[in-house]
Amino acid sequence: MTILEAAQQIQPQLVQLRRQFHAHPEVSQHEQETARRVLEELQAIGGYTIRTGISGNGILADLEGGQPGPKVALRADMDALQITEETGLPFASENPGVMHACGHDNHITMLLGAARLLAQRKDQLKGSVRLIFQPAEELSPVGGSRGMMAAGALEDVDAVFGLHVWPELPMGTFGTKAGPLMASSDHFSVYIDGRSSHGAKPDAGIDAVVAGSQFVTAAQTIVSRNTDPLQSAVITIGRFQGGTRYNIVAGECELEGTCRTFNPKIRELAEHRLKEVLDGVCTLSGCTGELKYEHGYCSVMNDPKQADYLLKTASELFGAEKAVTVEEPSMCAEDFAFYLTEKPGAFAWLGTALPEEEAWPLHNCHFTAPEDILWRGAALLAQLALGMPG
Ligand code: NI
Repeated sequence: MTILEAAQQIQPQLVQLRRQFHAHPEVSQHEQETARRVLEELQAIGGYTIRTGISGNGILADLEGGQPGPKVALRADMDALQITEETGLPFASENPGVMHACGHDNHITMLLGAARLLAQRKDQLKGSVRLIFQPAEELSPVGGSRGMMAAGALEDVDAVFGLHVWPELPMGTFGTKAGPLMASSDHFSVYIDGRSSHGAKPDAGIDAVVAGSQFVTAAQTIVSRNTDPLQSAVITIGRFQGGTRYNIVAGECELEGTCRTFNPKIRELAEHRLKEVLDGVCTLSGCTGELKYEHGYCSVMNDPKQADYLLKTASELFGAEKAVTVEEPSMCAEDFAFYLTEKPGAFAWLGTALPEEEAWPLHNCHFTAPEDILWRGAALLAQLALGMPG
């Protein structure tokens, strides 16, 4: 039996598993039930050395192959989001206000599918496999991957791979590229302190809303005037709060934003320039200001050789049209990025878009993935471990 036939054969079990995970989503650091179900399934498959409670609810499962060779790590994230599901699916979330809106239910299921396929082919496996079931991917800027790494998730690992469902690609298409695939994501907060006064007596106060507005406007020049136009970067200020009443000069305001890029030098520049712009605005207005800049996830940097290997594997399994080199990276972030700072590997997107249906974006209350991706993802993950050259 080929790996594709074997994967299709376990598809009914995968569908059932995914529906269970989907119906019982748990937010970051609360993945207890999900982890319990993963453990149960791994024990049912058998043959794995399992470690639980890694960095919270993480699980590491090792399978030794029948022949010597490299150790391949495969990763799935397990957490859901604080979103009220509106898909109307018969297996929609039973946990109010929580939903697998980023498709991690599919990731867990595909990795469990790969676990079963690999256990069936243990004798053909050259080397070994480590399955990483990771908590808290959505918990930026902390994330779950660094905790797993601190607990030794990548010890002796030669290459690491992960998949993410992707509504911008057609169903069943695997997409990735060498180098940057997903952006770094930083969070910043700005506090501006002025002095309130009567709205009719601005000269008696220091207007923090005017200073905040100048900050927002001036910050627009960091990307447009200070960064190399051939490099990608975005600074978005998504929250601006200040003032108390229409006829009172605002004594303070608070802003929050994010900076996304693929280039570590631009991260540094953004942090540095935001501070300078804030200082400048404060000098201009007489306010005092404070900037808190938090480094979130770094950018996903695929190893060119491993990205190539992943696409070659997908192409051999599903045909060349199902393995695409994506032209542009995404400004979304992924804490898989940290694994790639320690070991070579590749992260790839698995398309979920169906021609006749609306492709809702990730993190949307309507997002869901077609079940037909499950056996495909499982087969690819398993084959990445089976085909890894020694
Ligand atoms: Ni995600």
